[in-house]
Amino acid sequence: MRPDALLRAVEDDVAAGLTPFFVCSTHGTTSSMAFDPTSEISRLCADHGIWLHVDAAMSGIAALAPELRWVNEGLEHVDSYCTNPHKWMGVNFDCDLYWTADRAALLGALSILPEYLRSAAAVATAAFDYRDWQIPLGRRFRALKLWFTIRLDGVDQFTAMIRRHVDMTQHLAATVESDRRFEIIAPHPLNLLCLRLRGDDAATESLIERANASGEALFTRTVLDGCTALRFSIGTRTTEQHHVDAAWQLLTRLAGEH
Ligand SMILES: Cc1ncc(COP(=O)(O)O)c(C=O)c1O
Repeated sequence: MRPDALLRAVEDDVAAGLTPFFVCSTHGTTSSMAFDPTSEISRLCADHGIWLHVDAAMSGIAALAPELRWVNEGLEHVDSYCTNPHKWMGVNFDCDLYWTADRAALLGALSILPEYLRSAAAVATAAFDYRDWQIPLGRRFRALKLWFTIRLDGVDQFTAMIRRHVDMTQHLAATVESDRRFEIIAPHPLNLLCLRLRGDDAATESLIERANASGEALFTRTVLDGCTALRFSIGTRTTEQHHVDAAWQLLTRLAGEH
């Protein structure tokens, strides 16, 4: 997200009589793991009274490793934040961690207290009742599986896993760079590498299709600056170096004499 473009959009809305009220800044976009400049965006949002949420669905978990805490830079003045243990912490789908600086706004918008839910504790708001933080009343006890995961494996296991994934990605990037048939088309600070075959998009599209049809690996695709890219994402708990090597060998084999 470009702050200058955001400011223009906000000013256009205001000029049109609209009230912009929500901005989502992404730390680690789905497509390419890009990071929005949240500090700058947060100043703009504060000036215009806009709620700023940060979506760090995949990347936020990296903050378990102290040297990767830069993934959360700029959070000081945001209103809410989320990250997904189901994406990069080996917790079964689905499990999202949500934080808000001031829950009063959520409670004001979402809290209802019909007679059948009324109790002394509810009236006194003595307990956190997460039904007041969301639209549905019924919800699963997702925190329990996260608690079990942490109790069973310890956080150190995940820190080590994150470091392993990042190392494997950086090592793979060096290997890809040394193969003149391929190019890397986005920064790759964590565990996602967006690469493509040089030349037109058809070759990369075909490579992705044939690699997936082999059943040996599964790659998703994206389009960056108008170019098709293969997304090589390393984020599964059981992924080891030999899996990454095999997936890369598959790609080089299928790329042939390109
Ligand atoms: C940045 C980002 N936000 C949100 C999502 C979706 O998150 P959820 O699984 O919580 O719907 C993804 C990935 O799917 C993502 O990469």
